[in-house]
Amino acid sequence: MSYFAAISYTSLTWGVYGLAIFGLIMQRLLAYTLGWTPTTKGSETTSGAKTTSRALPADWYRSNELYDLERRAIFSRKWMLVSHKLRFLDTGNWIRFEEACFQFVIVKGRDGLIRGFHNVCRHRGFPIVTEESGQSKILVCKYHGWSYGLNGTLAKAPGYQDIEKFDRDSNSLLPVHVKVDAHGFVWVNLDAKEAPEVAWEADFKDIDQKARHHSFNFEDYKFDHTWQMTGDYNWKTLADNYNECYHCAIAHPDVSAVADLEAYKVETKGGNIEHFASTTPEQEKAGHKVVSNYYFPNACMTVTTLYVSYSKVIGAKSRLLEERYGLHGEHCQKMQPRAPGT
Ligand code: FES
Ligand SMILES: [Fe+2]
Repeated sequence: MSYFAAISYTSLTWGVYGLAIFGLIMQRLLAYTLGWTPTTKGSETTSGAKTTSRALPADWYRSNELYDLERRAIFSRKWMLVSHKLRFLDTGNWIRFEEACFQFVIVKGRDGLIRGFHNVCRHRGFPIVTEESGQSKILVCKYHGWSYGLNGTLAKAPGYQDIEKFDRDSNSLLPVHVKVDAHGFVWVNLDAKEAPEVAWEADFKDIDQKARHHSFNFEDYKFDHTWQMTGDYNWKTLADNYNECYHCAIAHPDVSAVADLEAYKVETKGGNIEHFASTTPEQEKAGHKVVSNYYFPNACMTVTTLYVSYSKVIGAKSRLLEERYGLHGEHCQKMQPRAPGT
């Protein structure tokens, strides 16, 4: 699919979205009630002819009820990119995250493993951590003092030692599934089942083995900063924007310096939306090699020879958090936060 046909690219995104949230039954219902037929092919038919497609109904971008459904059907089932192991260098490093109104903590244990837990004390539900990040030997709830090991097990519950039938083992922190991929990126899945219904491989198989990332060594970067913005538009609008470059020539006149927009294209495989920006040898020499992906549902990532950054939608109202990593050395000091939407 070429850049010029990207106007209909959203149909690819919503092919992923539609499968995740409603499936065939809902699509048939829409076709019946609205005469709307989702297009899951891109902008080109098998004959090569370019087509257009319709976006989702407008109120799907505004409805609180629909967002509640998305929280259950998408954000509680799909794998979400949230961080990188470079932020968990030492034992006890922890960071609080939020996705779709679910708060959770990722922490590095004494055994070196990175685990995740809902940020909810098993006693009365107070948050286990109340700051954004830190380093702790033990996680202590600041309400009544229950404490948990870095592996989530309940260590102490003051006063409960006198309660004969109190079962300490069944009061560990509630885990969230964590996967650290071959490049060190940290993914979570909030499915409450022992094994998530959607396997990471189902949506992202081999994305950490692809040649497009071979020329980057993710160990060469170091965490630099995060920044956050809130936009008064739905999270899907942000996904729409990221995944079409139809606007690039007009809205980002500087993009043509780092990519050939004529050759720009995107391809969707599972939950992985790959962006292909063709760069010349001269552009690459100037540090402009760029590899971008959108990982449905929550994150987009840009890898360049100078920095790695990924942005995550956090809530319905496009709360966006970007984490940025720079190469070791002075590049990190020189980097500035990007403008939103770039
Ligand atoms: S709510 Fe955490 S100790 Fe009571
Ligand atoms: Fe843009």
